[in-house]
Amino acid sequence: MTVFVTRPIPDVGLAVLRHAGLSVRVRSGESPIARHELIEGVQGARGLICMLTDRVDATVLEAGPLEVVSNVAVGVDNIDLEAARTMGVSVTNTPGVLTDATADLTMALLLAVGRRVVEGDALVRQGRFNGWGPLVMVGADLADKTLGIVGPGRIGSAVARRAKAFGSKVIIAARRDHPEVGPRVPIDDLLGQADFVSLHCPLTQQTRHLLDARRIGLMKPTAYLINTARGPVVDEAALVLALREGRLAGAALDVYEHEPQIHPGLLELDNVVLAPHSGSATRRTRETMARMAADDLVAVLQGRQPRHRVV
Ligand code: GLV
Ligand code: GLV
Repeated sequence: MTVFVTRPIPDVGLAVLRHAGLSVRVRSGESPIARHELIEGVQGARGLICMLTDRVDATVLEAGPLEVVSNVAVGVDNIDLEAARTMGVSVTNTPGVLTDATADLTMALLLAVGRRVVEGDALVRQGRFNGWGPLVMVGADLADKTLGIVGPGRIGSAVARRAKAFGSKVIIAARRDHPEVGPRVPIDDLLGQADFVSLHCPLTQQTRHLLDARRIGLMKPTAYLINTARGPVVDEAALVLALREGRLAGAALDVYEHEPQIHPGLLELDNVVLAPHSGSATRRTRETMARMAADDLVAVLQGRQPRHRVV
């Protein structure tokens, strides 16, 4: 039985596949796989290990034909789940293991934009640092400020715990109560009250452009937006406009609406911190993700229940 892997992943994952007696084809290369390569690559494969950068639709599923798709990510918006369900293809993901890493990066971005870390670094490197100044590089506090978490799932809750340690108050927008995380308020109210807004919802039909021009307009001009979820949750053009017009204090983004393209307006703004979709990028997390994806793929091919089934 053959398994196709769309990109080199940590060896521990490949070892699981080989140990199970599978014939493993790994496409080499440092960039996301092209569509035609993906369709060609899955031909004759029963299993696919894919990345969030790979669009896995009915054409790809049929090209195997595949029995199982294991995404090396928690988000599965890159996979046509409806088509997989219809065709009886199992889909698995990697929840839980990247929660701390992603929450850590969220705090790193929040602090970086709030305390102007990247801007300050540039100032020092460019020889513009003239010594301590009472008005130099002043930024935002976290203590006694309000963090609004949109989507208090595993990652959102982990960010809330961290922010509370910094003295922030936490409010949440969610479909149901999570009293251990914070009081739930309608999203429009959250946007009006929060000093920092951090997005942690999955990308679905319902959350696409959840932060549109109107909702961005509800945020305080002193507030910051942090997005480590999925780019299309935010109307990026509307965000750029709000930042440019001073209707927001800043933004820190790990994900983009048209990834890996970055809206040119974002690149021009000093009050924006940009990360290369690296929320889960720690060595241990990436190794664990690779092993989980491989374990679950093997489970399905051996007729067992995978531990993290989406479909
Ligand atoms: C990363 O964005 C993931 O979904 O794992
Ligand atoms: C992702 O794992 C989440 O539930 O936030």
